[in-house]
Amino acid sequence: MSHFTYTNGKLHAEQTALDRIAAEFGTPTYIYSSASLTENFLAYATACQQHGRGNKGALVCYSVKSNSNLAVLSLLSKLGSGFDIVSGGELERVIAAGGDTKKVIFSGVGKSRDEMRLALSHEILCFNVESIPELHRLNDVAASMGKRARVSLRVNPDVDPKTHPYISTGLKENKFGIAFEDALETYRVAAGLPHLEVTGIDCHIGSQLLDDAPLLEALDKVIELADQLHAAGIELHHLDIGGGIGITYDQEQPVAVGDYLGRLFKRIDQWRAANYNNKPITVLFEPGRSIVGNAGVLITEVQYLKHGGNKNFAVVDAAMNDLMRPAMYEAWHGVQPINQRSESPKIYDVVGPVCESGDWLARDRTLAVESGDLLAIMSAGAYGMTMASNYNTRGRAAEVLVDGDQFRLIRKREKSSDLFALENI
Ligand code: LLP
Repeated sequence: MSHFTYTNGKLHAEQTALDRIAAEFGTPTYIYSSASLTENFLAYATACQQHGRGNKGALVCYSVKSNSNLAVLSLLSKLGSGFDIVSGGELERVIAAGGDTKKVIFSGVGKSRDEMRLALSHEILCFNVESIPELHRLNDVAASMGKRARVSLRVNPDVDPKTHPYISTGLKENKFGIAFEDALETYRVAAGLPHLEVTGIDCHIGSQLLDDAPLLEALDKVIELADQLHAAGIELHHLDIGGGIGITYDQEQPVAVGDYLGRLFKRIDQWRAANYNNKPITVLFEPGRSIVGNAGVLITEVQYLKHGGNKNFAVVDAAMNDLMRPAMYEAWHGVQPINQRSESPKIYDVVGPVCESGDWLARDRTLAVESGDLLAIMSAGAYGMTMASNYNTRGRAAEVLVDGDQFRLIRKREKSSDLFALENI
């Protein structure tokens, strides 16, 4: 259910009116709902439990890149979440938030030696390795520390996720993963390296998937590989199916997490019974968007209304540097007034102050607005603040976490002096 709803014509997050937050912390500001984050995480955790995968049988490793605010990580960590990271910086965030590093998996094609060292010193659960040179580098770094690194190979199942080309990752032409036909040989290399311990298979085929059929097709390929590895004497402790479940931005109807997990566990259990002597195998997930996407909005104030030749513009104080998704993917985000007006609406493009034609947040929206009004850009919890930049020397937005009728600042708005604090003349 949505935790962003109208009460008496005023948009609320849970029981908190969004204009109260704007009055206290200004705009633009990202606002997240604790109830929504909790509910979305529990959709995974509960489905795992319902299918007999309590404590050790499954682990949800929230994908930190989708929203890495410490308060969000802390909330999820308290609910039992593990974390999927792609940099040393994200690992440091998990640690600062009090997350359990033994529940961390490290993905990404370009891990540096320093990042490997940091992760090994914190005994992370697993490295998702994406190439043979990376296997050798990890083996060397682990050897220099007198450790063994747990590894899983990210295989590329060559399945079309039927999503935006910029966010599909499991096709042959993508830079990600190890080609399926090279996987067995690469596992043999990994198994022969003394400072590596092969523990799993990993795949992630793309993001904002509405249907679980491509994910289940990828699972079939992963299972096929697990059989080949079993025959080659390489035993696994886990299968990592990645993230990717989509959310509703507009009219999309994504598969329900519980339904997808039900189908997935059923297939895994059938396979374990038929081919794997019913041996236990842990299932890992790396969801990001489906946990935070609809748990956040970006609020902004209308600065000017501009009536151009054949378009009306609402110029707002949020911009592409705050929310990059429209400019980068032509992504659609809902726009809702924080205080509803009864005047007759007009059609507007909602644009920011940045000097780029690509700086728009929404196009052709029917809105009744005046300058000074507050708008909420909806479904902005995932890949919003984490992709924000300081382009045009704009400080990044503040972030606020709502819990019922309470709210607190979880990141201060950046000041200009913060932006050039590291510079010298
Ligand atoms: N695991 C891996 C290895 C990933 O690369 C990703 C996302 C995830 C998990 C989490 O996927 P999710 O559950 O959030 O779909 N900036 C884009 C999305 C990029 C996704 C990158 N990888 C956007 O704003 O739509």
